[in-house]
Amino acid sequence: MDGAKKMGIRNVSSICSLTQLDDHDLSRLLEKPRLTTNIERQRSFDERSLSELPTLLVRGSYDHFDTLHSPAVRSGIDTPASWDGNSFDPHPIVAEAWEALRRSLVYFRGQPVGTVAAYDHASEEVLNYDQVFVRDFVPSALAFLMNGEPEVVKNFLMKTLQLQGWEKKIDRFKLGEGVMPASFKVLHDPVRKLDMIVADFGESAIGRVAPVDSGFWWIILLRAYTKSTGDLSLAERPECQKGIKLILMLCLAEGFDTFPTLLCADGCSMIDRRMDVYGYPIEIQALFYMALRCALMMLKHDGEGKDCIERIEKRLHALSYHMRSYFWLDFQQLNDIYRYKTEEYSHTAVNKFNVIPDSIPDWIFDFMPMRGGYFIGNVSPARMDFRWFCLGNCVAILSSLATPEQSMAIMDLIEARWDELVGEMPLKIAYPAIESHEWRIVTGCDPKNTRWSYHNGGSWPVLLWLLTAACIKTGRPQIARQAIDLAETRLLKDGWPEYYDGKLGRFIGKQARKYQTWSIAGYLVAKMMLEDPSHLGMISLEDDKQRKTLIKRSSSWNC
Ligand code: GLC
Repeated sequence: MDGAKKMGIRNVSSICSLTQLDDHDLSRLLEKPRLTTNIERQRSFDERSLSELPTLLVRGSYDHFDTLHSPAVRSGIDTPASWDGNSFDPHPIVAEAWEALRRSLVYFRGQPVGTVAAYDHASEEVLNYDQVFVRDFVPSALAFLMNGEPEVVKNFLMKTLQLQGWEKKIDRFKLGEGVMPASFKVLHDPVRKLDMIVADFGESAIGRVAPVDSGFWWIILLRAYTKSTGDLSLAERPECQKGIKLILMLCLAEGFDTFPTLLCADGCSMIDRRMDVYGYPIEIQALFYMALRCALMMLKHDGEGKDCIERIEKRLHALSYHMRSYFWLDFQQLNDIYRYKTEEYSHTAVNKFNVIPDSIPDWIFDFMPMRGGYFIGNVSPARMDFRWFCLGNCVAILSSLATPEQSMAIMDLIEARWDELVGEMPLKIAYPAIESHEWRIVTGCDPKNTRWSYHNGGSWPVLLWLLTAACIKTGRPQIARQAIDLAETRLLKDGWPEYYDGKLGRFIGKQARKYQTWSIAGYLVAKMMLEDPSHLGMISLEDDKQRKTLIKRSSSWNC
C-alpha cells in the first residue's frame, strides 16, 4: 500500500491493467474461488500489497479460480468476515460501520427484510428516511452477501416481489403491473401483535414519480444473490421468473420510440427531484443495460422466457450501439461536435440529433482532458447534457456497456479531474453544478438542490462502492484506495452523512441525514471488495467479446 501511495494517483495508469489479461484469465479471475481456496485467497490479500494486485493477477496466482461459487467464510455470528483480525487493513471504522448497519435492519414478523434509509435520531424531520428504499438497500445487500449473510437479501427480494403484485394507483391512474416500489415501511401494531407493510410506488414520493431504477436494481440484486450463494433455485422460482418478465415488459414494449434508450421523467432514480435529467438519463440507461444482461442470465428458456430472451438480445444490441456511439464523449468527439454542421437531412447526416454547437457549455472545453472520456448525461433531439454523472458511468463499466477502452478512458478522466470529481470527499454525484438563473429554470428554484449541494453537484459517500468496483474491474485499485482513505478521515467523525456540500465536498450537507445507511454500507462494500476482489463477480459482467466466448463454453452462470 505504501508503494501505491508513493507512486501517487497520477502514475497508476502505468501499472499493468486487468484489461491486458486475456479474456479467459479475466473471466476466471472474477469468479469466486472454490471453498478450498478461500484460505489461500484470504492469506494472499493479508500479506501482499494491493498495489501489486494487477501484477499478481498477470502472474497467474489465481489459476485455481473457477466458476463455482463459495459462500464467504464467516468468523462468528456477529463479526464481519471482513474484519477478522487477520485482515490486511482492519480499520477501526469497519467495526463501527457494521454495528451501525445492523442497527438499521428492519424486521417483518421476526425476519430481517431490509435496512432503513437513515437511522438519524437527532433529525427532527423523519420524512420517509425510516423506510426501506430499494436502491438504498443494494449496498447493504452486497455487504451482507460479501459477509456470508444472504438471508436478509433473500427475504428482501421476496418481500419486494410480493409488493410488485399489489395494484398500484396514483389518484385514478393505474400503474404498470411490473412497477417495483421506491420504498416500503413495516408498521408494528403492539396491541394486535401484527406487522404490516405500506409501500410507496411513487404515489407518496415527492414529485409523484415512479422509481424506474427499482425494478432494475431488483434484477441486478437477484443475480448478485445467485452468483454469491450459488443458489439457483430462488431465481428459478416461477414467481421470480414472472417478476423479471413483468419489469422488462414495461421497458421492452413497442411504441413510438425511435431510440433503444428508455424515455424517463425527471426524478425517477437516485436523483429523485427535478434536476433536468428527464429524457434519456445515463443512470437509467446504464442500469437498464445491466438489468437486461442479468435477466438474460436468469430467464429460463421456456415458451414465454424464450420470447423475452429474443427481445432482450435485440434491445441489447441496439442499446449498446446507441450508447457507445452517441453518449460517448472524449476530446476527439467534442472537437467533432464543435465543428458540426446543422440542419442536415437524410440518412447521411453526421449530426443526427441536430445539436447546435453554440449550445455546448463553456466549462466542457476546459474539463475535457486530452486522455479520457465518459458517457454524457443525456442525448435527445437538439440536446446533449454534457454533465458528468458518477453512478451511470460506474454502472456502464460494471455492466460492460462501456467497451474496455471506454472503461479505461473513464478511469483516466477520474484521475485527470480528481479535484472536480472527488475533491475532499468522494464522490460528486454530478458535475458541474447548475447555478443562478439556470438553477431557477432547471430545478424550479429547488432550495435543496442549490449549487454544489445534494443532487446538484453534492458529494455522496455511497458512490464509493461503485467507484471501487469500477477501479477493480479496470485494474486500478489504487484510485479506490485513495478515495477510501479520504472518506475514512471524515465519515465516522461526521456521523455517516448522506451527502457533503461545496465544490470540494468539504462541508456536511445542509440537510444531510446522519447515519445514512447507504453511506455506511457503501463504505463497507468498498473495503471488502478491495480486500477480496473476487467479490466483484457479484456485481460485474464480462464484456461482449468475453461473453460470446463464454456462451460457447457454457450457457449457465459463467458471466
Ligand atoms: C434521497 C435520495 C434518494 C434516496 C433517498 C433515501 O431522496 O435522493 O436517492 O433513495 O433519499 O435515502
